[in-house]
Amino acid sequence: MAHLFFEHVGSQPSDLVLEIGRMWAKDPNPEKINLGIGIFLDEKGKCPVLKAVKEAETFLVENELSKTYLPIEGDALFLEETKRLLFSENAPQVAAAQTLGGTGALRVIADYLKLEWNHPIYVSDPTWANHHGVFTAAGLEVKTYPYYDRTTYTSKKKEFFDFLEHVGKGSILLLHGCCHNPTGIDFTQKEWDHILEICLKRGLLPFFDIAYLGLGEGIEKDRYAVETFYKSGIEMLVAFSYSKTMDLYKERVGALMIVNHSHTVDAMQSTIKQIIRRNYSNPPAHGALVVQAILSDSKRKKLWLDEVEEHRLRSVEMRALICNELESWIRHKKEFQEAKGFFSYLGISKEMVLKLREESIYLLDDSRLNVLGVNGSNIARLKEVFSRLKHG
Ligand SMILES: Cc1ncc(COP(=O)(O)O)c(C=O)c1O
Repeated sequence: MAHLFFEHVGSQPSDLVLEIGRMWAKDPNPEKINLGIGIFLDEKGKCPVLKAVKEAETFLVENELSKTYLPIEGDALFLEETKRLLFSENAPQVAAAQTLGGTGALRVIADYLKLEWNHPIYVSDPTWANHHGVFTAAGLEVKTYPYYDRTTYTSKKKEFFDFLEHVGKGSILLLHGCCHNPTGIDFTQKEWDHILEICLKRGLLPFFDIAYLGLGEGIEKDRYAVETFYKSGIEMLVAFSYSKTMDLYKERVGALMIVNHSHTVDAMQSTIKQIIRRNYSNPPAHGALVVQAILSDSKRKKLWLDEVEEHRLRSVEMRALICNELESWIRHKKEFQEAKGFFSYLGISKEMVLKLREESIYLLDDSRLNVLGVNGSNIARLKEVFSRLKHG
């Protein structure tokens, strides 16, 4: 009889966002609607491959000469172009690495912080749920800062600025660079300037998570915070994802950047490389080479910029459509209307979310929805079901 080594192992709860996706996929109703998913959807409800990506892939098929390993920190030109995209220059005082999407960047940075700056990390309440998971798994102490009131569905910016004045020196502040997930509520440029001022004055370490560049107010405005902080000379961390901005989800491509103005950039880079080497040795090439082939070629880059802008405009249009057609279901219309990016809370009860699920309409339990789940073909059904439930 073989030993049963794993007879008593425990199980873990599944990720809620992915679970909703699974429920939706299994639902046989041809009229099912997925408002819970975290990706771009076009008018036909599909997540397309960008034309710029297809062109870059064709170029790679014809020109790639080898499948040998990338360096531990990834492709050099990819990193250079990513720095230019975020900071408008090939930033010299930066330790950088290509990562497995934005999540990979968050995790490698978290492992680095655990080793070299083991201070509490503050995330917004609420935030993308996996922030808690990733930072806790790395052994960091995760705390929250006030951001949004889930009883009134309005922002708590005043409380946030009070918090900044009192939080301990050296604390790490996880900030969504644009398109806050899940609320869609972003800081204005004036507010970012103020946050920067306080971080400099109080010795707080900003850590940007940028997963939706270009999808809020366009590339220039969406990178305002990260670029302004960088140009101020503050030291900071950045986890960047190409999953959404180039629809490269399954290619797992992102980057980490740590701005370091002391003489220890090389030492920092060596530790980051060691963390990566001991985890997965070196990153996959395809997604990064696609990104590099787009950003380093002016024609492909222009094509990409036009496509991100089209994506962005679709989300603006769908948000407006929801505001008009499902108005009575939106708890706080002004906040919903002004939100940026894919997500917002509708502000309905969990009980109502579950009733919608019985009608094959899926959103997260806390009523976060992706405005791109709505399209010209399903809005009439949404309106009909919503009004039937409201009045029945
Ligand atoms: C705020 C935020 N950060 C990071 C990520 C992770 O991105 P990736 O899929 O590139 O790992 C996501 C993905 O949904 C996100 O919403």
